[in-house]
Amino acid sequence: MKLSKRTFLKSLVAVSILAVTGLNSNPVYSSSAEPIKLGFLVKQPEEPWFQTEWAFADKAAQALGNVQIIKIAIPDGEKTLNAIDNLAANGAKGFVICTPDPKLGPAIMAKARAYDLKVIAVDDQFLNAAGEPMTNVPLIMMAASEIGQRQGEELYKEMQNRKWDVKDTAVLAITADELDTARRRTEGSIEALIKAGFPKEKIYKSPTKSNDIPGALDAANSMLVQHPEVKNWLIVGMNDNTVLGGVRATEGQGFKPENVVAIGINGVDAVNELSKPRATGFLGSLLPSPDIHGYRSVELLTKWIREGVEPEKYIAVQDVVFLKRDNFKEELSKKGL
Ligand code: GLA
Repeated sequence: MKLSKRTFLKSLVAVSILAVTGLNSNPVYSSSAEPIKLGFLVKQPEEPWFQTEWAFADKAAQALGNVQIIKIAIPDGEKTLNAIDNLAANGAKGFVICTPDPKLGPAIMAKARAYDLKVIAVDDQFLNAAGEPMTNVPLIMMAASEIGQRQGEELYKEMQNRKWDVKDTAVLAITADELDTARRRTEGSIEALIKAGFPKEKIYKSPTKSNDIPGALDAANSMLVQHPEVKNWLIVGMNDNTVLGGVRATEGQGFKPENVVAIGINGVDAVNELSKPRATGFLGSLLPSPDIHGYRSVELLTKWIREGVEPEKYIAVQDVVFLKRDNFKEELSKKGL
């Protein structure tokens, strides 16, 4: 009896020592064998895009040695700020983040500064209180305007392949203009369509309330019913889920795949659709480089922490591969995806 009480007390002491050292980020307590802990926070972990970033963050950590990635889903502002508290409590030295809302930028940076955590943004750029981009925070993102332009060019090309009459055709552009990278993609796409010769007045914009398939489906439905005269639709949107919402809406309203062309962006989020036994209105997807975003951001953050080398403030990744039903497996495996 006595013995077990003592053992119990001993273990209590051990637990509290553990808790104290676990919470203390003071370097005095960390031995050189302790790994560098880095957070990798993403707004929509259900998208394969972000799962790919996570997977390549882990690969970078392995290659660098003695680096540990703490992956956290941050669907809203509250979860984001809590995640930063938890990272600090766990002794992390910095984090990579795709924020659920760019306007959280100042709050995120204030917290990070208070804990002395280094920050690299991926995909979506922070905005300050005046709504301007926070260009002082290092950012890795896709070259949004250029990739959007490619979407517009490929849509136009496919319209010509199908020998559609422009008279019967319109563009449904599902927009999300509050998100700068989204606005730049859809504007790039629309510009390219106009440049190729598509009539500007037949490009119909419909804003989505949420960046997922249900939101885009609603946005598309409300536009489709306003234009019963249109026979063929080209669908523009900032990523795969957005144009997929558009495709689902055309199907719901009785359009055949022959009368719909949608091209997504992200690529990794298009695998299910491209694997379907029969083609839908979704022609394919432009795959940028989620692998590079995940890998590079961890590499740069680690170098910043270990060697004090500050990363470049802005890296725009321009590489893009056009995935279609006949090449997507091969192209994804070429990139190790
Ligand atoms: C935004 C979108 C994601 C993905 C990334 C790529 O965050 O919401 O789906 O396209 O950009 O940078």
